[in-house]
This record gives sequence, C-alpha cells and structure tokens, in this order.
Amino acid sequence: MHKLPPLPYDYSDLSPYIDEETMRLHHDKHHQAYIDKLNGALEKYPDWAEKAVADLLGDLEAVPAEIKMAVRNHGGGHFNHSFFWEIMRPGRTDNVPEGELLFKLNEVFGDLLSFKEKFTTAALGQFGSGWVWLVQNGQGELAISTTANQDSPLELGQKPIIGCDVWEHAYYLKYQNRRAEYVDNFFAVINWSVADANFKHAKLG
Ligand SMILES: [Fe+2]
Repeated sequence: MHKLPPLPYDYSDLSPYIDEETMRLHHDKHHQAYIDKLNGALEKYPDWAEKAVADLLGDLEAVPAEIKMAVRNHGGGHFNHSFFWEIMRPGRTDNVPEGELLFKLNEVFGDLLSFKEKFTTAALGQFGSGWVWLVQNGQGELAISTTANQDSPLELGQKPIIGCDVWEHAYYLKYQNRRAEYVDNFFAVINWSVADANFKHAKLG
C-alpha cells in the first residue's frame, strides 16, 4: 500500500509564496487522491503493489496492460508530488543555488537569471496541466524539460533535480491565472540543498 508522505514543513511555512489553504488541499486532497487510485489499481496485482513507485514508472512497459495507464497517471501523480514537497522549503528572498549544482547551472545556462528565465518560459509554454523540470537527461546533461498531465521524467529516462507543479490546483487559489507570478515565487521556496543532493545522486546513478 502506498501512503501519503508527510510534508517536511508545516502547511503555512511556504507562505506568502504558497498559501496554507493551497498546501492543505494540494497535499491532503489532491495527492491523497492519486495514492488512493494507485492503490485501487494495484489491488489485483499484489506483486506489483510491493514495488516502489519510481521503479514502476522507470519501467512502465513491464507493468500489466490493464493497469498501465492508472500507474502512469496516479503513480506519476504520487511520485511527482512526493518529489515536489521535498524540493521546497520555507521561503527566503536571497534563495540561491549552492554546491556543485550552482557551478553547473552557470556553466550550462550562463547565469542563474538565464536559467530562471528558461525555466519560466518552459512553465508558461506547458499547455494545460503538467510539470516543468530541471533534469539530468538521457545523455547525462543538465536540461529543462516539461511533462504533460502527471507524466514523470522517470518515464523519459531523465533524473529529476527540480520540479514545479504547473497544474492550476497548485496555484489557482492564490494566483488565479497568473502562472508566471507563481513560478517566479516558486524560486523563493526551492530547497537548493535538496536540489544539489538530487544533482549529485543523478550523476552517480
Ligand atoms: Fe499538483
């Protein structure tokens, strides 16, 4: 059985960048719903129910046909949201990358501002619901990527380093249609120390 992971901070801790009501609904209702539906789909497949969701998504072709789409959508929703909670921390105005990742971002994108601009452009260009990511791609390079719906970078052979949920449920209560403002404020709550750890892990793996 997959279970809802607790937030690594309080519901109100990302405020004013992400408000408490959004966090409560997003974590307790939306994320829980993906888990319930994933568990429902896996009920008839106990061997598959024991596997980690990242392993299911990393080899989706092997998943039984009857539940493949449910695993893709709801398993993806579970993985993406679990990742999302961990990649955020209470906000700060001087929130900047650290460690080896800072060096690599400068090398690949020129500077942090250029990275932020490219990430934001990708987020705004994602039509409808989806996610924008900083990943290590299949060639081992740092890249910005987007996925539709609850598709995960793992399905594309990419390793996520940062991920931002651009479904309306992630920002509509506070920002309405202002996705750009939401993404701008997401940069104040990125947990760069987790991002740097993800980067190091991606390089090793
Ligand atoms: Fe979401």
